[in-house]
Amino acid sequence: MTKITYTSANVDLEVFHRDFDAALSGVRAAAGGEHPNIIGGEPVTGPGAPLVDVTPIDTSVVLGRFAAARPADVDRAVTAARAAQPDWARTPWRRRVDILRKAAALIRERKFALAALMSLEVGKNRLEAMGDAEESADLIDYYCRQLEDANGFVREMAKLTPAERNVDVLRPYGVFACIAPFNFPLALSTGMSAAALLAGNAVVYKPSEDTPWTGLKLYEIYRDAGLPPGVFHFVVGRREEIGDVLWQHPGIDGVVFTGSKTVGLRIHHEISTRWIKPCLMELGGKNACIVMESADLDAAAEGVMRSAFGLQNQKCSATSRVYVHRAVAGPFVERLLEQTAAMTIGDPTARDVYFGPVINERAVARYENAVVQAARDGRMLTGGRRLTEGALSRGHYVAPAVARLPVESSLFQDELFVPLLAIAEIASFDAAVAEANRVEYGLTAGIFTGQQGEIDRFFDEVQAGVCYANRRSGATTGAWPGAQAFCGWKGSGSTGKGGCGPYYVAQFMREQSRTVMAT
Ligand code: UN1
Repeated sequence: MTKITYTSANVDLEVFHRDFDAALSGVRAAAGGEHPNIIGGEPVTGPGAPLVDVTPIDTSVVLGRFAAARPADVDRAVTAARAAQPDWARTPWRRRVDILRKAAALIRERKFALAALMSLEVGKNRLEAMGDAEESADLIDYYCRQLEDANGFVREMAKLTPAERNVDVLRPYGVFACIAPFNFPLALSTGMSAAALLAGNAVVYKPSEDTPWTGLKLYEIYRDAGLPPGVFHFVVGRREEIGDVLWQHPGIDGVVFTGSKTVGLRIHHEISTRWIKPCLMELGGKNACIVMESADLDAAAEGVMRSAFGLQNQKCSATSRVYVHRAVAGPFVERLLEQTAAMTIGDPTARDVYFGPVINERAVARYENAVVQAARDGRMLTGGRRLTEGALSRGHYVAPAVARLPVESSLFQDELFVPLLAIAEIASFDAAVAEANRVEYGLTAGIFTGQQGEIDRFFDEVQAGVCYANRRSGATTGAWPGAQAFCGWKGSGSTGKGGCGPYYVAQFMREQSRTVMAT
């Protein structure tokens, strides 16, 4: 099938850009609207100040105003979800699969409008934005297949006596709170919610405050696909007002969350002081790439540039640390800086721009603080300032930055989610793996080497769930449904199983053993 992913594009790019331009005009024309929450299929607005959704490309452009939900609205959504969920759970699983497959088809039908919207709302370049839309549709299809392959998770079991029949079934938990981040506003929201829904749960969905419009589009997709109104609720609100209210609600049976480790740890901890509930958490990374002496340095430089600066490093899979063997550090860094300098920076909705803005003012501040520290701990090799030339002054633009640092610097430890890449020289493979593992995170990792033995040892010894060797198209980024499971180890995830992977849907279900004796 022709499509754009994060690491490949086998489409006619002329046609792609023409269609993208048309979709972009459509989204721009539709901007500025007022939108409600959607609870039980009904629009719900409130008296409070709305959330103003602006584009990080130009913060004077208002994409929409979203009614800010209050705690009472969350309560209403959870109550409605609880009321609707048993019927949804009783709906034959093949029917659930049909509805979700329809949703995947609608995403494909609407993919240009969705991609153009995400380009504007997140500041994604065109190919990244289309990757997000295509991934969303593929996620649904892949999760549907999981149900089919497992026969709806109904399995005949052994008989201990001829008089009994034993069946093992997986059943939904009930209502999931689905809390999504801004960076893949469609794919992560779709992946988490579609799996929960396929499993027979109802979902109360809260998109990121930075990307409510894409979240609303997901609601519309499910609605148009025929999902019953009580089964998926769209609740937008301010972090400080409803962020905690949703997952703390006693009517929630499980939480699926993608976001920062700080917030994830808090949810996990606080829930477990009161309840035993599934907490599926995908919590970011501090992903290392190792470049050994025998590496193809052009491939390594390109792979690192793509994974460090694609979507301005705002991926939990982004490369943010490089350990390069000292024998090749000079030429590797030179190539990397060439690659970095060659990136086009600007409005990412424009045709040939690769690198756009970061999401908000807080991200700019994080970048600026990290740069001050990098200059103190080591040496900036490129970048380090906010970009304010011409139209860039209207958005959240910063220069892609590379810093050479001693391995002790805390910039090798803390997830920043801004485009600052830390590089250190290492003397051996062992030292490189030891450094790669010396963080609390364990999401993705990459290596460039010509030695098969090093690849084998890397997979064996690196503490990360998503590992790549010699991937020029992205050293540590670009996992795809059915190709790479996206599993966070250590502080990067709570379950040991990943989205995009073969064990995902089952995590939204609990087992029931059914023994019936012949009478
Ligand atoms: C995330 O950034 O939260 O592998 C996850 C990748 C993407 C990652 C999405 N699929 O780069």
